[in-house]
Amino acid sequence: MSKQLYIETVGCQMNMLDSELVVASLRKAGYVVVDTPAKADTILFNTCSVRQHAEDKIYSALGRLKHAKKHNPNKIIGVMGCMAQKDQKLIFERAPFVDLVVGPGQLHQIPELIEKIGAGAGQQLEVSLDRKAGTRAEIEQSFESYDPLRDPQMRPTPFQAFVRIMIGCDKFCTYCIVPSVRGPEQSRPAAHIVAEARQLADEGCREITLLGQTVNSYKHSAGGRTHRLSDLLAELHEIEGLARLKFVTNYPKDMTDDLLEAVRDLPKVSPYLHVPVQSGSNRILQRMKRGYTVEEYREMLARIRETIPEAAVTSDFIVGFCGETDEDFDQTSELVRESRFKNSFIFKYSERPGTKSVQLYPDDVPEEVKKRRNNELLAVQNEISEEDNLPLVGRNVEVLVEGPSKAARRHEDEDSPTLQLVGRTHCDRIVVFEGNRRQIGQLLDVTVIDANAFTLFGSVVTQHVGPEVYSL
Ligand code: 5AD
Ligand code: SF4
Repeated sequence: MSKQLYIETVGCQMNMLDSELVVASLRKAGYVVVDTPAKADTILFNTCSVRQHAEDKIYSALGRLKHAKKHNPNKIIGVMGCMAQKDQKLIFERAPFVDLVVGPGQLHQIPELIEKIGAGAGQQLEVSLDRKAGTRAEIEQSFESYDPLRDPQMRPTPFQAFVRIMIGCDKFCTYCIVPSVRGPEQSRPAAHIVAEARQLADEGCREITLLGQTVNSYKHSAGGRTHRLSDLLAELHEIEGLARLKFVTNYPKDMTDDLLEAVRDLPKVSPYLHVPVQSGSNRILQRMKRGYTVEEYREMLARIRETIPEAAVTSDFIVGFCGETDEDFDQTSELVRESRFKNSFIFKYSERPGTKSVQLYPDDVPEEVKKRRNNELLAVQNEISEEDNLPLVGRNVEVLVEGPSKAARRHEDEDSPTLQLVGRTHCDRIVVFEGNRRQIGQLLDVTVIDANAFTLFGSVVTQHVGPEVYSL
């Protein structure tokens, strides 16, 4: 009989990819995926540690399972990902009914560990070394990149895929937990990445998004040749069947000209660049140890605009970082106003135990000030997003159709020949339009008929069939 798996994923695209791969390995071991924890005999949480809030949500979800576990002691409950690496044994202390704690560097062991638990081996903990617990080589080795061969039948969508090109981070921004939980920066060999992409394309994949915490710091040397991200893009561009290549997340200082030229010259590479600036104040950037000034970021943005005028640039911001004054925040608003990001992800600073900022500065911006700054910055950004989306009305955009829109998914059983679909432009703008199921996975021309700050609304361009066709 098949076993039932329920998995909940929070956090970044790296986590989405990790969950996809873990699910695939468990399906191979005979599991089917179910949509509620109640139906499952194995429950996994793939967790995030970037902000406190994400961890609180997981601990309360775990709390809710306490009774289920009492009722059915054979249920296996596991915590994987960044919070597993960060909290380790603490998870067993806070939730003693958890069976399994697995860091992002040990995901390949999950099927075996679950089997062990099923056989009565008791709680299992597998995590990587601390960043100070050995030589660089030892620590690197303890964080294993999890990139097994893809099984086409196990992929969530056949036409889109994430491909990891590097793991970890060495930048150590003072607020950030990522370098400790995801380990040292390590790039995958270009040949492995190209082989994986080729296999995905053979299976019908149209769009690949390359993943790395600082994806544009990618560098790998083998056989006397060094690949940077620009070289990798050029090789991936040759793969037949692929239509779009994206990459996230970029580190501003590594936005080199060769990369911008690759984006300009390779038509399959999306003119979409996520390059988080985090703050518009030099004093705050310095406290964050981001390694650049606002002037340097502006200069980089100017180079992007000059090389790829049609590029959509997006950013992340942290508001209410330690010591952020109204003047600092005003400079951030000013930077958002002038930079014309397509959109920005804005976060309230969340103190992370073990990071440098905790040792260096008090978390002294009150919560209500953080909230107010968050809302204010969002309002500035939304105004810009709307202003930049409106001129697209009346124009045609090419959309990769991803599937039914959220609204359509809510009424999935309604039997209608048409349904609302959602997709994205080459520049990563979201487009909603009426279509039919067969169009999912296709690249379609859509005329934009309306727009707001977040979404373009369109209608599919129908090919005009001229009289010459009839005369054939
Ligand atoms: N508090 C709030 N936001 C954070 N980020 C990273 N660490 C923190 C933190 N401690 C944000 C940054 C990063 C994004 C993924 O999350 O903006 O770019
Ligand atoms: Fe965190 Fe900075 Fe690395 Fe990004 S670059 S993952 S913010 S330490």
